[in-house]
Amino acid sequence: MSKKTFYITTPIYYPSDKLHIGHSYTTVAADTTSRYKRLRGYDVMFLTGTDEHGQKIQRKAEEKGVTPKEYVDEIVNGIKDLWKLMKITNDKFIRTTDKYHEEVVQKIFKKLYDQGDIYKSEYEGWYCTPCESFWTKTQLIDGKCPDCGREVELTKEESYFFKLSKYQDRLIKHIEENPDFIQPISRRNEMLNNFLRPGLEDLAVSRTTFTWGVPVTFDDKHVVYVWIDALSNYITALGYMSENDDNYKNYWPADVHLVGKEIVRFHTIIWPAMLMALGEPLPKQIYGHGWLLLEGGKMSKSKGNVVDPVILIEKYGLDAIRYFLLREVPFGSDGVFSNEALINRINSDLANDLGNLVSRTVAMIDKYFGGVMPSEYQDGDFDEDLKGTVMGTSEKVEELLDKLQYNTALTEIWKTISRVNKYIDETMPWVLAKDEANNKRLAAVMYNLAESLRIISVLIQPFMPETPEKIWNQLGIAGNTGILDWDSSKVWGKYPGGTKVNKGDVIFPRIDIKKELEELEKMADKNAASKSEDVKADTKKTEDKNTAKPEDKKDAGDSGYITIDDFAKVDLRVAKVLEAEKVEGADKLLKLKLEMGDEIRQVVSGIAKHYSPDEMVGKYVILVANLKPVKLRGIESQGMILAASDDKSLVLAAIDKEIGSGSKVR
Ligand code: MSP
Repeated sequence: MSKKTFYITTPIYYPSDKLHIGHSYTTVAADTTSRYKRLRGYDVMFLTGTDEHGQKIQRKAEEKGVTPKEYVDEIVNGIKDLWKLMKITNDKFIRTTDKYHEEVVQKIFKKLYDQGDIYKSEYEGWYCTPCESFWTKTQLIDGKCPDCGREVELTKEESYFFKLSKYQDRLIKHIEENPDFIQPISRRNEMLNNFLRPGLEDLAVSRTTFTWGVPVTFDDKHVVYVWIDALSNYITALGYMSENDDNYKNYWPADVHLVGKEIVRFHTIIWPAMLMALGEPLPKQIYGHGWLLLEGGKMSKSKGNVVDPVILIEKYGLDAIRYFLLREVPFGSDGVFSNEALINRINSDLANDLGNLVSRTVAMIDKYFGGVMPSEYQDGDFDEDLKGTVMGTSEKVEELLDKLQYNTALTEIWKTISRVNKYIDETMPWVLAKDEANNKRLAAVMYNLAESLRIISVLIQPFMPETPEKIWNQLGIAGNTGILDWDSSKVWGKYPGGTKVNKGDVIFPRIDIKKELEELEKMADKNAASKSEDVKADTKKTEDKNTAKPEDKKDAGDSGYITIDDFAKVDLRVAKVLEAEKVEGADKLLKLKLEMGDEIRQVVSGIAKHYSPDEMVGKYVILVANLKPVKLRGIESQGMILAASDDKSLVLAAIDKEIGSGSKVR
């Protein structure tokens, strides 16, 4: 009998210069589920990749003086390296610039055109030139661009349209009849109430204002709209409409598309409508997870958080990072990432609860039995309760992982770890060891600890690629695959008596939180200038959507967009630099004295590598005046000045004619 298949995808990533820890969230979750399903005997297809077309990429490449393909190639290699570092076990990596993908996107577009689901018309809308965005009249705020507040013009552009409206009723019916189709349930309601029931408009699916996209075969002025191109990846990767479509036949429909909440709408409206038009089955589920918010907030006492996944993995190890990502926050909700929360988790759950249990167990077997597990035991109090808890864990974990409830699945495993730790307190092996008559009882306690750890190590495999092996080495059972498969977690007594344990390194060293946070804060300050890159990575989403048509614009609030009112919260002012000096011991920082109207402000800025103190004096800069003051290198900074930066240079945002200091910038 052939194995049951399981097809899981992540979104395909925009090539952004620097991936932060939040970017790895969807991928780590998808990897965990893939590992879990493989352990349960499924034939898994796990797909990820990159979404490489669009105007922004074209522009960035032009700025750098390279071709768009050259520009994305380098970044995509970086993304692949990161997934390797994170031990992501994707079975396939698709790039939307892969030829086979582009060809099938063209075939899809042509098929939909030939059957009348795509038609040519004119797009009429209000155009904001600086933002390069189209808006419908109702989206304008006081007749102006809702993004930047500037004047808009009425324009017409030739465009192909997809008959999205035609599929509205079928889509509503499908969502209503299949409660699991959109998860969590709150996102399902949001899609129905905010988008589907109010009515869908046809979607503009081609562009003529740039060329970096998949050309429409029958009208080469047009390139295919990036979302049509990108969403198709889920089937082009399987060979859909190609000579060899075995994978498509084998794996489609997808079991789950994991996506961040801001792109649920594309996946639950445009994508199923496309599939309906193509006459193909719909994916079984789209799961919209929450965001990991990166900029601290209440939870974070230390200001600057290090969010570079490579640095974090180097410092704390891969498994600690993966554990944190999936443990800290329920998968459907938003949560805050802070270095402090990460270190607390490492210390309490990993070093104290699990790491200690491994070290203590092995050390006791070593001390009491010369490192070899005896074979004769005597049952006693607490044993039955312990065994029941440990053996009952896998069923709970399965139920939760089947529902993508990573954090509660981990909570269950850690409850069991606590139970095992409590068993040590209850049985008090050090007391038993005082009298030889207790030897068999002591042996039983050691056995129960080692056996519990064997089961726990099997259960953490989907989440942690490195730790199980370390535990097996210490327990002396590495390579003994017969007792380490998933189902062996349901059976008590597989750990072989007579096994020799190996005392090894502490698997999760404890971290001195105070010292570590100070160090991280310094690192974050040092990177103050380059930190704007991380922020850029997040705003990238917004930028890319700005190149899309109005259909994309409805979900301000939940999509990474801000409204003009949000923007108005930022108090931007012109300020004159009165004095500037280097900050001792910080080669990137300058301390500036600024005049802002009647007020004097002191600001520490990470520009010292690009501007000398002398050069700064007399300049007019743009100051974020209502930023909460912070201390950088012990010096208070009362705001932030704006600058643009790339890998090599940094330039200050300019005021191009004279204007009084204190003037508002908007
Ligand atoms: N290219 C589109 C997807 C097209 S799929 C046909 C895209 N790319 S993205 O690079 O912006 O995002 C990729 C994934 O990373 C999304 O699921 C997104 O939600 C996730 N994350 C990026 N930053 C994140 C956080 N800070 N927290 C959690 N996930 C976030 O969207």
